[in-house]
Amino acid sequence: MMGAITVDDKLFEEVDQIIDRYAGEETPLLCILQDLNAKFGYLPQPVLQRVSKKLGVPASKVYGVATFYSFLETRPVGKYVIRVCKSTPCHVRGATDVIKILKKELGIKEGETTRDGLFTLEVTSCLGVCGVAPAMMINETTYGNLSEGRIREILALYRQ
Ligand code: FES
Repeated sequence: MMGAITVDDKLFEEVDQIIDRYAGEETPLLCILQDLNAKFGYLPQPVLQRVSKKLGVPASKVYGVATFYSFLETRPVGKYVIRVCKSTPCHVRGATDVIKILKKELGIKEGETTRDGLFTLEVTSCLGVCGVAPAMMINETTYGNLSEGRIREILALYRQ
């Protein structure tokens, strides 16, 4: 797991470099936050404050965008972020069981990260693959038609 990021000049230098890449663009906030999330693994408070200051955008707006999108994180997460869909089509096809199985397999609750820093478990809304419900994503990869056996197989791939 990535530890909490401390504030120092080097951090701000790196943040500024990413912000400066989008100089001249009209609404670069989401792109900047995506790049920063990719760089640090999540979006620490001091980073969000720096973005607000540099872009002249209110901190409440920056924080609002950072918390709205499920692919952006505002706290440290594991190497692999598992997002389980709980929207209606997935729900009626067993999302509750999927969440239960994952919690049992990983030994964590929703929003938590395993002790080894490998997995973070999150519950989210529609992933856009309702045809293969119930579904989940692990980082950028989507998995559908989940069953207990399939979930175990998938986790084993990431534990190797
Ligand atoms: S409802 Fe689960 S992917 Fe759309």
